[in-house]
Amino acid sequence: MKKLSIYLFIITFLTTALAACSDSRIYKIGVSQCSQDDWRSKMNDEINREIMLHEDAEVEIRSADDSNPKQISDIRYFADNGFDIIIVSPNEAQALTPIIKEVYESGIPVIIFDRNIIGDSYTAHIGVDDKSIGRGAAHYAFHILTEPPKVIEIYGLRGSTPAENRHNGFANELTAGGGKIIASEAGNWNKEEAIPIVDSLLKAHPEANLIYAHNDRMAIAASEITRRHGRNDIKIIGIDAAPEIGIKAVADSIIDATFLYPTEGHRLIQTALAILKGEPYQREVEIPASSAVDLSNADILLLQNETLTEETRKMKLLKEKIDDYWAKHSSQTSLFYASIAIIVLLFGVFFLVLRSFWQHRRHQMALMERNRLLEEQRDMQKSLNEKLQEATQSKLMFFTNVSHDLRTPLTLISEPVSQLADANNLTPQQHTLIKIADKNVKILRRLINRILVDDKN
Ligand code: FRU
Repeated sequence: MKKLSIYLFIITFLTTALAACSDSRIYKIGVSQCSQDDWRSKMNDEINREIMLHEDAEVEIRSADDSNPKQISDIRYFADNGFDIIIVSPNEAQALTPIIKEVYESGIPVIIFDRNIIGDSYTAHIGVDDKSIGRGAAHYAFHILTEPPKVIEIYGLRGSTPAENRHNGFANELTAGGGKIIASEAGNWNKEEAIPIVDSLLKAHPEANLIYAHNDRMAIAASEITRRHGRNDIKIIGIDAAPEIGIKAVADSIIDATFLYPTEGHRLIQTALAILKGEPYQREVEIPASSAVDLSNADILLLQNETLTEETRKMKLLKEKIDDYWAKHSSQTSLFYASIAIIVLLFGVFFLVLRSFWQHRRHQMALMERNRLLEEQRDMQKSLNEKLQEATQSKLMFFTNVSHDLRTPLTLISEPVSQLADANNLTPQQHTLIKIADKNVKILRRLINRILVDDKN
């Protein structure tokens, strides 16, 4: 029983150890993007590239497609599905603040990036100095124009913080230098929405010499419309400098310049993991803006991007190989532990079978021994019985013989005694004595007769 418990303990220990080997903590990171576009694709690539380096984390990226209700439900999805941290680029500050505050106050860490919320209900905020980008764009306007800039502004989205800051930075710098925003309307960050707006603003303000768009997609829309209007003289500036769209548009002379809006996807994941692991992190990060991308550097940036894409491809390949190796390794390790567990189990079973076999054998031997003793006792009893019977028989025979031998003389004694007892010439004392003798002779005869009768029977 004691040994059985030891075996059970070993098996339980091995199974637990096996389970522990396969169960390591994986942090679930949810990223809620407000939309899906070239700039965010670049950022998502960076996020996925960074996550490859962290075995203990996995990420799910959701896009709200510019819809506040969709983004609210995406954030709820992350909160309800056990995500450890939520990274959000809020579509509009006002609409998204309540849900972010709710989630943050429920104890789930939240990182806000790119666009901001109202207040500071977040664990960390990683933003870009959009005002400085705006100022840089205004600077550039003065640089490429010989006359004071008369600007049509294609605003991002009213209520989204980068648009407000890009406007403020640009407007302050422009007016300070003697330029002017002659018209401003929101294109909601989209090319499609920007096209009719640029069209009508151009018609209303033919004096414009520069279009400042809050992102490259709207700047490309502006370029298409100015060409359609035959206004190739109008300079166009965008923001984002995502390689596939913005930088390419500059290299192809579709727009005049774009300003790099840093994506820094890797920084988001690093900050998230620092928060989750209780390591130090910066609560407020403002990434500085860089200089303009124009014809002078667009080609080299595109080339760099190509190299980066190629390196990323190789990294992915390598990661796939490593994953493959790990999958094989972990299945082999599990197999190894499983084999050990099975061997231990088999030994245990073998031991138990052997033990019960020995026990059975010992039991059988004991039974056999008891049987043998019983048989011996029975035989002894039998022979004793036989001897007893023999003794009884010979005793009986002896008695019969003796009785026979006694009966004849007794009969011979009894007759004279009986006659003497009937005689009347005896003294009373003699008569009494002979009566006693007669009586006892009769008793003796009766006894002997009974012995002889019993013997016959
Ligand atoms: C992408 C985007 C960018 C812009 C940023 C501002 O969704 O519209 O073009 O720079 O968002 O938040």
